Amino acid sequence: MANNISFPCAIMLFFIVFYLINSSNAMPSFNVQRYGARGDGRTDATEPFLTAWSLACESRARAMVYIPRGTYLVRNLVFWGPCKNIITFKIDGTLVAPENYWSIGSSGYWILFAKVNRISVYGGILDARGAGYWSCRKKGGHCPQGARSISFSWCDNVLLSGLTSLNSQNIHVTVHHSSNVRIQNIRIRAPSGSPNTDGIIVQASSGVTISGGVIGTGDDCIALNPGSKNIWIERLNCGPGHGISIGSLGEYANEEGVQNITVTSSIFTKTQNGVRIKSWGRPSNGFVRNVQFRNLVMRNVENPLIIDQNYCPSRKGCPNQSSGVKISGVTYANIKGTSATPVAMKLDCSGSHHCTEITLKNIKLTYMKGATTSYCKNAHGGASGVVVPMNCM
Ligand SMILES: *[C@@H]1O[C@H](CO)[C@@H](O)[C@H](O)[C@H]1NC(C)=O
Ligand SMILES: *[C@@H]1O[C@H](CO)[C@@H](O)[C@H](O)[C@H]1NC(C)=O
Repeated sequence: MANNISFPCAIMLFFIVFYLINSSNAMPSFNVQRYGARGDGRTDATEPFLTAWSLACESRARAMVYIPRGTYLVRNLVFWGPCKNIITFKIDGTLVAPENYWSIGSSGYWILFAKVNRISVYGGILDARGAGYWSCRKKGGHCPQGARSISFSWCDNVLLSGLTSLNSQNIHVTVHHSSNVRIQNIRIRAPSGSPNTDGIIVQASSGVTISGGVIGTGDDCIALNPGSKNIWIERLNCGPGHGISIGSLGEYANEEGVQNITVTSSIFTKTQNGVRIKSWGRPSNGFVRNVQFRNLVMRNVENPLIIDQNYCPSRKGCPNQSSGVKISGVTYANIKGTSATPVAMKLDCSGSHHCTEITLKNIKLTYMKGATTSYCKNAHGGASGVVVPMNCM
């Protein structure tokens, strides 16, 4: 084709494109292809990605790392900060992990942003090709620890917008020790039987907003672990998977609490749980405080509303199955839909630390094969409006 375009015409086109790129965003752009990345899905692009990152990170002006269309094979990528200015990380292509799962799986992280302040990551598809790793785990073979697909650790002011993450070996997205993180319109997919392929895990982080998204995996759509604070989740489509979980908490005697959590305007389809609070049945100083679950739709969910303070998979270190985690101030409001089991509401709280200030308001959960029921143990609070199944506190 190039032969058909006259030389002056090509020159003019070049300047138009050059002008458009430079006028629309005046920031320097570090295109990974300039440093040797090839979007052929075969050539190892790890080093070119790291080179583009370090140049962008060193830039005194705002800078962009740009990944054009194409499929890039990358091994473990650690993008270290702090950077000198704001970074935009724009992905128009697909990043794939090597076929051999040991390559990324022997480190816990495939793509990790660490100690970066002010970063926006736009678009992109991550395909960790986890199937081989899951089958190793299922066979109980000698397998590496497994890599999380994309993680932010010790980062502040993060935007992750429009990412698609497929078939992670392990957790798809993790946010650790970070603050002011916005995750928008994320799509996460792994088969329902894939082990520990949680969608998003938040831990020791504050100010995390997850808005809009479709998550279907073999484990929790979202899990909020100890130290999650000021979390807002809205407009999420969750399923298949284990639903949205606070926990597991109380694994350790000394643990940060979870507080000020809102989950709203979301739909759960054929999940194991809808909204769950889960803690180990053993001593801990952890707590859960000020949680709002509201405007939720359950479609054929096994345990739509559940507090389970008896978690103890190995049956060790759980004297009397009594959890030290103190749960208070949990509101369930405007929740409707169908339960796949008769017990649509199960509030199974600790014998030594009862749940308090549980509020139920306008709940209507039905069961195909008869009426739904509720189960309460050591749970205290009140109800208003129509509540089906009935309040058992
Ligand atoms: C609770 O979290 C939200 C964000 O989810 C935040 O806007 C609000 O200020 C927090 N409230 C308190 C009391 O910290
Ligand atoms: C076991 O739990 C009960 C409450 O269910 C509590 O009264 C009792 O003190 C606990 N015993 C021990 C040894 O922790």
